Amino acid sequence: MQVFRIEGGRRLSGETEVQGAKNSVLPIMCASVLCHDEVKLTRCPVISDVYAALRILTSLGCRCRLEKGCAVIDTRTLSSSDIPDMLMRLMRCSMIFMGALVARTGECTLSFPGGCELGPRPIDMHISALRQMGADVREDHGRLRCSARGGLHGGVINLSFPSVGATENIMLAASCAQGETVISNAAREPEISDLAAFMRKCGADISGDGTSRIIVRGRPATDLHGCEHRIMPDRIAAATYLCAAAATGGDVFVRGADPRDLEAVTDLLRKSGCAVYEGREGCAINAPERLRAVKTVRTGPHPGFPTDAQAIVMAALSRAEGTSIFIEDIFENRFRHVDELVRMGADIKTEGRVAVVSGVKRLSGACVEAPDLRGGAALCTAACAAEGETIITGVELIDRGYECMETSLAELGAQIKRV
Ligand code: EPZ
Repeated sequence: MQVFRIEGGRRLSGETEVQGAKNSVLPIMCASVLCHDEVKLTRCPVISDVYAALRILTSLGCRCRLEKGCAVIDTRTLSSSDIPDMLMRLMRCSMIFMGALVARTGECTLSFPGGCELGPRPIDMHISALRQMGADVREDHGRLRCSARGGLHGGVINLSFPSVGATENIMLAASCAQGETVISNAAREPEISDLAAFMRKCGADISGDGTSRIIVRGRPATDLHGCEHRIMPDRIAAATYLCAAAATGGDVFVRGADPRDLEAVTDLLRKSGCAVYEGREGCAINAPERLRAVKTVRTGPHPGFPTDAQAIVMAALSRAEGTSIFIEDIFENRFRHVDELVRMGADIKTEGRVAVVSGVKRLSGACVEAPDLRGGAALCTAACAAEGETIITGVELIDRGYECMETSLAELGAQIKRV
């Protein structure tokens, strides 16, 4: 088992290049199933979730390769629509293969997805939408059998919550359905727009992405073709390195970050006393020795504060002056990093979806365990600010979404080793 060993207490400074977005490349890899062609994805992050998606595509009969940050996927040889249970458990995003496989082959068998334990993470919206489009979805001992022999048809689908995954699944299923599909109360995350941009390059007719009303006009599956697409920058990875700088009174430039995707986070960092510079090349931050607390941090659907940045920002604010109140409105169980931060000397109390963070003067190194992907990133952030040595176990969870976290932090002057 690998661990990170971090000697903290040093100001971070310097520059690091942001990776491609995990939450964009994964749905785009699912969408490649629709293309009957070869797709080339550049700035593809080298992370274990991408390897998991490549394994699923290979198990479906596709030919895939990943070379130096470029994934090439040829789905002309697709020969199966059953995703093995073991591969489904590797990550939650595997749900999005359902819409693409049913649209292409008329059927799909998969099991309930795995992924971070952030709460029940049901898939009811995915299933009810596909049923509304004419699919027959049955559950049989944890396996989902989905079929639409006569093809899918469009319709108006109202989401009770702007679910990112459900919006993506419907976009893919609707791309080859008969007629027009309107998704209302659709998710507006930037990754939805990147997926739509990819699909349009492949010949799909999708509009309204980025708004809460997306319209998809179905095309015959044979009309879709391959393309080359550069994956958008990972806004949460960018937020991670900005927060690591903020936590250590640092001065950092994150090259390639898109400031438009980071407004909720950079706005909060400014409120905490940081100077943030936004440009075409990326985002820079200059932080004071100690941050000011931010009264309320409430997560919400985009353009609200991103739930994926909640743990990371909490780590940065745990050493701030004053008390910050976090309200996690998206997931039921997304405070699993709190106990680990408390072991490092943070003063945090949680009650349901609320966490009260009373800033302390200093954090101290400790042995801690990554509870999930973003909780692990939060511990890295806190460890950079803590005095002394921190050992972080569960690094494989961090590797799910970060391309060599230790390389990026070391570029910024952190004393970090993967052991
Ligand atoms: C995506 O997950 C991201 N994952 C998550 O990032 C992110 O936190 C989340 O969107 C919210 O922005 C990927 O894109 C691969 P949701 P997803 O469907 O699609 C409930 C990370 O750290 N819900 O918007 O699973 C669900 O339980 C990961 O990179 C239903 O009730 O998120 C949750 O409470 C973590 N029924 C809420 O909606 C459904 O059918 C948000 O889920 C679907 C969702």
